[in-house]
Amino acid sequence: MNTFAFFLLQVVSLKALSLSLNRTSEQRPNIVMVMSDAFDGRLTFHPGNKVVQLPYINYMRQMGVIFLNSYTNSPICCPSRAAMWSGKFVHLTQAWNNYKCLAPSATTWMDDLQKAGYHTHRMGKLDYTSGGHSVSNRVEAWTREVAFLLRQEGRPVADLVGNGSTVRVMTKDWNTTDSAVQWIRQKATALSQPFALYLGLNLPHPYRTEELGPTAGGSTFRTSPYWLKKVSTEQVSLPNWLPFSQMHRVDYYSTVTKNCSGNFSEQEIRDIRVSYYAMCAETDSMLGEVIAALRDTGLLNSTVVLFTSDHGDLAMEHRQFYKMSMFEGSSHVPLLMMGPGIKSGTEISLPVSLVDLYPSVLDFAGIPIPHGLSGHSLIPLTSQSNKQSTKPHPGWILSEYHGCNANASTYMLRMDKWKYITYSDGLSVPPQLFDLSMDEAELKNVASRYPVVCQHLDKLLRSVVDYPNVTEAVRQYNKQQFLQWKQSLGNNYTQVIANLRWHVDWQKNVQNNEKAIEDWLDRPECKTACGNRSPKPPQYNSPYEIPKPSPWPPGGAIPSNPNDLHAVHVGPPPNSSKRSLTDENSGEQKGSGSLVSFHVHPVSTWVSFRVLWFPPLSTTCQ
Ligand SMILES: *[C@@H]1O[C@H](CO)[C@@H](O)[C@H](O)[C@H]1NC(C)=O
Ligand SMILES: *[C@@H]1O[C@H](CO)[C@@H](O)[C@H](O)[C@H]1NC(C)=O
Ligand SMILES: *[C@@H]1O[C@H](CO)[C@@H](O)[C@H](O)[C@H]1NC(C)=O
Ligand SMILES: *[C@@H]1O[C@H](CO)[C@@H](O)[C@H](O)[C@H]1NC(C)=O
Ligand SMILES: *[C@@H]1O[C@H](CO)[C@@H](O)[C@H](O)[C@H]1NC(C)=O
Ligand SMILES: *[C@@H]1O[C@H](CO)[C@@H](O)[C@H](O)[C@H]1NC(C)=O
Ligand SMILES: *[C@@H]1O[C@H](CO)[C@@H](O)[C@H](O)[C@H]1NC(C)=O
Ligand SMILES: *[C@@H]1O[C@H](CO)[C@@H](O)[C@H](O)[C@H]1NC(C)=O
Ligand SMILES: *[C@@H]1O[C@H](CO)[C@@H](O)[C@H](O)[C@H]1NC(C)=O
Ligand SMILES: *[C@@H]1O[C@H](CO)[C@@H](O)[C@H](O)[C@H]1NC(C)=O
Repeated sequence: MNTFAFFLLQVVSLKALSLSLNRTSEQRPNIVMVMSDAFDGRLTFHPGNKVVQLPYINYMRQMGVIFLNSYTNSPICCPSRAAMWSGKFVHLTQAWNNYKCLAPSATTWMDDLQKAGYHTHRMGKLDYTSGGHSVSNRVEAWTREVAFLLRQEGRPVADLVGNGSTVRVMTKDWNTTDSAVQWIRQKATALSQPFALYLGLNLPHPYRTEELGPTAGGSTFRTSPYWLKKVSTEQVSLPNWLPFSQMHRVDYYSTVTKNCSGNFSEQEIRDIRVSYYAMCAETDSMLGEVIAALRDTGLLNSTVVLFTSDHGDLAMEHRQFYKMSMFEGSSHVPLLMMGPGIKSGTEISLPVSLVDLYPSVLDFAGIPIPHGLSGHSLIPLTSQSNKQSTKPHPGWILSEYHGCNANASTYMLRMDKWKYITYSDGLSVPPQLFDLSMDEAELKNVASRYPVVCQHLDKLLRSVVDYPNVTEAVRQYNKQQFLQWKQSLGNNYTQVIANLRWHVDWQKNVQNNEKAIEDWLDRPECKTACGNRSPKPPQYNSPYEIPKPSPWPPGGAIPSNPNDLHAVHVGPPPNSSKRSLTDENSGEQKGSGSLVSFHVHPVSTWVSFRVLWFPPLSTTCQ
């Protein structure tokens, strides 16, 4: 047995001992988790929370701990929830999309609590097991690397219903909330053992757009004048959008497939954002009902209350709505905790993520944390006593995405002020790096300016996940599933595929779309791994050709000072000092330069270097 394993064993047995000696079941706190759907975490603290009144979230902030940098492990419902319930990263659960998630028999933290003597109860939206969501949704995920660009979602719209006294807009959630309140008042108060209650809400997820038929997704931001009054409309910002030409190509794919590439008036954008905030206020009020029930029954001081969400919503930031993106609006989730032993009025800025909830909940309950979880207990950060951790939080988080509306597997590492996003095999799609301290809006990709930061974060990422390999596994899964589905339809295939959610655009060019699918199915895997649209290398290109960071050159123009030019290069170290730079999209050679310096990373294959710029050459590309 190695020393580390031995040390862990010691810790676990000591913990179990102190548990049996000191903690009676009465002292173990109840656990109540309220999980919303699509709640942008930035609204729960300053300055986001100036936009909308969220009195119960604010109450939790005063009474407990708020995490200022809390992220989803995958910005879409089912994979995110699979990570939360299993405590494992998405590449470990292989919860690739809304259709492929966990088996119903998968162990969750609730199972562990139950085994340890807790009474457990789950209500409302769960959505973490395989098989759910629409056929369109899964086919869109499987075919995301097909070379077509079809609008799949309804165009986002705002919708105002009821009047100034219409409180219950999302009646289904209110119903579940009522049941939770009733359960607390009647059942929880009568229990002799501690309990764990989970309440899953649908809000503030946008509503299905009825007029687009039964296949439509949720693109209607619906609220009532009652909730609208909770929004400080004058504080609602209009997000800046990059021109199409400057968008990262995967973001561009998202914008088009989400039906956001058309024109939107300022009023439309404002209405959508205001409605979204009002929906968050309605969500907050449901959380309030639960807190009030705990308070009224005297259970509040023996209960740990957690509030979070599976992901956020872009609400027209970056010319998108919904999630499926690593931008803050989509990936940043709320996380608040209050209860016995938890510090009050505390803000924690360390990046954390939903996989941390499994070990945290067990830690609250004094249950030893099993091995093999991806997260870390947050209790050392939230505890009033100076509790030490045997497995301190590493201070970075991983989020990954493999589903629809993004045409490459996406991996995001958040650490300090940096957000590093890399795609696919790390080679064929340019990475993104945002400095969130300078660029909250994430409009300036600085990957090319900070190659060393990229290298460092890429190395860290690769030490957590062999992401090119995961990308390849998802590709194979996508093709396999699609073929299986196609075969199951027999002669009906042509008819069925034409009538999915993308039917309006599909039917504009049926033959081309069918052919694009056939080409994709025929495309050999290795070629796919190199990227369908990877730059065409010029003749003299070596394996050390530069994949251009986007936008390329930085800022869209060739810098006047050649020394300002940095390039991030992926691949083995260069063996010659000659470099060339090609345009990412056209493959056109933009110029060549001499290598000034470079830095080779020992573990990852990243090399960064600096080039001196020479006038562009007109070279025919292969
Ligand atoms: C449990 O009791 C022992 C002995 O009284 C004490 O040293 C220890 O700190 C207690 N542990 C906890 C978690 O309260
Ligand atoms: C996209 O938006 C347009 C304009 O509102 C609409 O006509 C179309 O049906 C939408 N597409 C889908 C797939 O919902
Ligand atoms: C609001 O709508 C409800 C239900 O339609 C109605 O009963 C009520 O009178 C309305 N209130 C106002 C102030 O218009
Ligand atoms: C609310 O729940 C009850 C049973 O719990 C059910 O009969 C009723 O249809 C539900 N209403 C809505 C709006 O979901
Ligand atoms: C994704 O879609 C965009 C827009 O069609 C395209 O430019 C890009 O090459 C596609 N693939 C990747 C991997 O980015
Ligand atoms: C959007 O607006 C621009 C500028 O006003 C115009 O050129 C373009 O045709 C419009 N696009 C659509 C789809 O209406
Ligand atoms: C919790 O509150 C109840 C009622 O207010 C009180 O009787 C009890 O002593 C409190 N428990 C703790 C641990 O503070
Ligand atoms: C690559 O992925 C496959 C399929 O998920 C897995 O079986 C294999 O162990 C992975 N290899 C590495 C080196 O991670
Ligand atoms: C094709 O569609 C027809 C009519 O809806 C149905 O009867 C038949 O079973 C379908 N065939 C397959 C293979 O799904
Ligand atoms: C650099 O390495 C490549 C690939 O190994 C080789 O083809 C090329 O000849 C080498 N160039 C020089 C200048 O050594």
